[in-house]
Amino acid sequence: MITIWRRKCLRVLIFAICVVVIWNFVSVYWIMEVRLPTQIQVVIAKKEGEVILVGRKQPKQTAAATTIMPSDAPRPKICENCFHTKFRYIVESDVCTRNISQNASILLLVFSKHENRNQRNALRRTWLSQAKGNVTYTFVFGKSTMEELNYNVADEQKIHYDILLIDFIESYRNLTLKTISAFRWAVQNCGHVNYVMKVDDDMWVNLEALQEMVTSPLGLSTNKLFGSCSMNARPFRDPTHKYYVPFSMYNESIYPPYCSGTGYLTNMALIKEVVNLSPNIPFFPLEDIYIALCLQHLGYKIHNVGEFHAYKVYPHPCLYRSHIVITSHGVTANELKMIWKANCKAQIRAWMGNGVRSGGLVPMNSHYDKVEVIQESRGKRIVRGKKSINSFKNPPLLKLNKYGRHVPVGG
Ligand SMILES: *[C@@H]1O[C@H](CO)[C@@H](O)[C@H](O)[C@H]1NC(C)=O
Ligand SMILES: *[C@@H]1O[C@H](CO)[C@@H](O)[C@H](O)[C@H]1NC(C)=O
Ligand SMILES: *[C@@H]1O[C@H](CO)[C@@H](O)[C@H](O)[C@H]1NC(C)=O
Ligand SMILES: *[C@@H]1O[C@H](CO)[C@@H](O)[C@H](O)[C@H]1NC(C)=O
Ligand SMILES: *[C@@H]1O[C@H](CO)[C@@H](O)[C@H](O)[C@H]1NC(C)=O
Repeated sequence: MITIWRRKCLRVLIFAICVVVIWNFVSVYWIMEVRLPTQIQVVIAKKEGEVILVGRKQPKQTAAATTIMPSDAPRPKICENCFHTKFRYIVESDVCTRNISQNASILLLVFSKHENRNQRNALRRTWLSQAKGNVTYTFVFGKSTMEELNYNVADEQKIHYDILLIDFIESYRNLTLKTISAFRWAVQNCGHVNYVMKVDDDMWVNLEALQEMVTSPLGLSTNKLFGSCSMNARPFRDPTHKYYVPFSMYNESIYPPYCSGTGYLTNMALIKEVVNLSPNIPFFPLEDIYIALCLQHLGYKIHNVGEFHAYKVYPHPCLYRSHIVITSHGVTANELKMIWKANCKAQIRAWMGNGVRSGGLVPMNSHYDKVEVIQESRGKRIVRGKKSINSFKNPPLLKLNKYGRHVPVGG
């Protein structure tokens, strides 16, 4: 008797488990939402009925990169000739004037570090190889405290002739010195150039899309900074944070509008004004905020461009080759090569057919290793756990469904 009951129970139990498993499996694909981790600010913009979902990750906190700042004397907003950035150029090349038959109209200042030689070579073999004709570029360095590294960079100049080595000590805290002194060099040597772009050496830049942008019939308005820009960024007040800024350095609760230093574009006239103004704007350790403080003083505006990404766009090579991406951050040498050699015509055409166009859907960001997969069934939201972003065969392009939720395209 008891054994029969046990068997029955067991059967019912197994049946119930099967039902639950199958139901879960089916309902996961009913409505699936991919939610970004909570620390990320999600910016949603609409264009032509499509949705751009852009996640931004807070900068990583690393103890090693902590910047210690003097916290005693308050930083005045303005001063008289207190910020000095006139340094000697130790190594420089005539990147702006070497081709008189066609003067370049865009100058790229690629900020690099001495030890990133592999990365520079990868850039030269990939997107920088398109920097010819009306686009020109130079790598920019401060001086390393290790003399040998300066010689190595000078050797690179003999091969590639694309080095600008400026006489200040290269360090994270000196990035503002690097920017203003590189700008000054540009003003002195590349006066005829229309546009200047500052970009880091771990960036992908889609030069075709960039040129299309600057030559668009609407034109780029002058006196603006273009890039991945934020309106209401707040200073980090945690002393262990990489971007920590004490109240003595900046006592307001929000920064002026700024564009991420990973890559921004502006015109030469604005660069000239910033260089002229800079002696009177006291040093600020965050380079992009320093530029924002100058712009605020000059009364100029920023312009957020959806195709400039300050984070790493999902590394599907064809996203990078499409005009959805003008910049992407944190791209390795191997990824650069993969992007460069990919054949993307068919894929891009297919995406366009799916409603993906410039300013339309933006790919999920691979910065996040994991995303939460949320199941919605019968009005209940159940977090299905985390899914590795790399387990998606294709980057999950997101769009709004009729319930106003983000769902993967075609999902
Ligand atoms: C913030 O600092 C400025 C000088 O940089 C000073 O004039 C102002 O009074 C300060 N504001 C507050 C609220 O402390
Ligand atoms: C390029 O610039 C140089 C110096 O500014 C000028 O002499 C030359 O005519 C320019 N060339 C063209 C094609 O515009
Ligand atoms: C100089 O510009 C001309 C005209 O666009 C181009 O054909 C030539 O390749 C350029 N030379 C170099 C060295 O970039
Ligand atoms: C670059 O050169 C091409 C051909 O000479 C021209 O059509 C284009 O407008 C130029 N781009 C810029 C940014 O001047
Ligand atoms: C920044 O550069 C200046 C000029 O070379 C140097 O005196 C200073 O020590 C550097 N600061 C840091 C933090 O490296």
